[in-house]
Amino acid sequence: MPVADQIKASIAGSSWIRKMFEEGIELKKTLGADKVFDFTIGNPDVAPPEKYYSIAGSVATDRSKNVHGYMPNAGYENVREVMAKKASSDHACDVGANNVVMTVGAAGGLNVLFRALLNPDEEIVVPKPYFAEYGAYASNHKARLVPVESKTDFSIDIDAIDRAITDKTRIVLINSPHNPTGRVYSAESLEKLASLLKRHKEEGRHIYLVADEPYREIVYDGIVVPPVLSLYSESFVVTSFSKTLSLPGERIGYIAQNPGMDDCGLVMNALILCNRILGFVNAPAFIQRVVGELADEKVDVSIYDKRRKLFVNGLKEAGLEFAKPEGAFYLFVKSPFENDVDFVNHLKKYGVLVVPGSGFGGPGYVRMAYCIDEKIIEAALPIIKKAVSEIE
Ligand SMILES: Cc1ncc(COP(=O)(O)O)c(C=O)c1O
Repeated sequence: MPVADQIKASIAGSSWIRKMFEEGIELKKTLGADKVFDFTIGNPDVAPPEKYYSIAGSVATDRSKNVHGYMPNAGYENVREVMAKKASSDHACDVGANNVVMTVGAAGGLNVLFRALLNPDEEIVVPKPYFAEYGAYASNHKARLVPVESKTDFSIDIDAIDRAITDKTRIVLINSPHNPTGRVYSAESLEKLASLLKRHKEEGRHIYLVADEPYREIVYDGIVVPPVLSLYSESFVVTSFSKTLSLPGERIGYIAQNPGMDDCGLVMNALILCNRILGFVNAPAFIQRVVGELADEKVDVSIYDKRRKLFVNGLKEAGLEFAKPEGAFYLFVKSPFENDVDFVNHLKKYGVLVVPGSGFGGPGYVRMAYCIDEKIIEAALPIIKKAVSEIE
């Protein structure tokens, strides 16, 4: 057997996003590139903020000794200081540089956290639907993902989380603004979640709250994403600059730890060790330096907002149902077919590519990503309307 059984199985069940991406290439050959409308991938197309280019230029030409050298595994101290300030202000909590590890994106951060915190067979409770890679990250570390129902508007169902907690639960993982629904969890629901975890802690179950928030700055209608670290001592934030600065290929993010957590220093040492031994060693030097100067910047969110409005109006006109996104750049749309894959295949016949919600633990829905040119959305909307009207 040339590859591990589990990996072979994962290749066979390859992600829907990838599958649709490959089908899109084939469709473009038969229908023509201008007749294919691909809403499958969450790859931000909005340019990074202007300041990125000047900072990146000066960082790239810095000839100081050792700028390309190894560094402490947690990352540059001055960059961690900047991120600590940002996390403190986002989360109404006094985070210091010693509570921050620079990571290879949010994905790298989640893998570091899972490796550091989870024994084999321990459980991560996550509200459905959820970012599909969470399952793979859990299994990387021999842990188990336990998806739980959300309310019908995709807000957190506290009772469902409570029912899912066992003596094996080590992490409750939340993501807000949310991929794939666009939901931003309210302060009230986060407070309830924190109270629940405090109660379990008092009963002897020590559960971490992990907030995965790479979309924190991509919000609409004046919404502010509420703080998480201030609510519960045993908490972490994992984030990145993939979406807020449109730098996903540069692979840069960080983990911030609540300084009040039990055994704070030991936990931080574990994170730093895992960043090293998972083979990341440290987050990339060049882009660490760059984002260290850009922590207060963000992409032009009004571009996403314009597309969101366009999409929302067009899909309503087509008679589709969905919750209006409050953040991120996805629409999670109710499938008019009972089986979401049937809707995906129906739309595909018209050249419209979307991914089934079942790939995110949310069957009965499809996800449409609007990090794509406005003109493509404009051209696709009448076709989507036609496709929906021709459902038999
Ligand atoms: C909810 C969520 N978490 C984590 C990630 C991974 O982000 P990064 O590119 O920073 O690793 C993504 C990427 O799409 C995401 O949507």
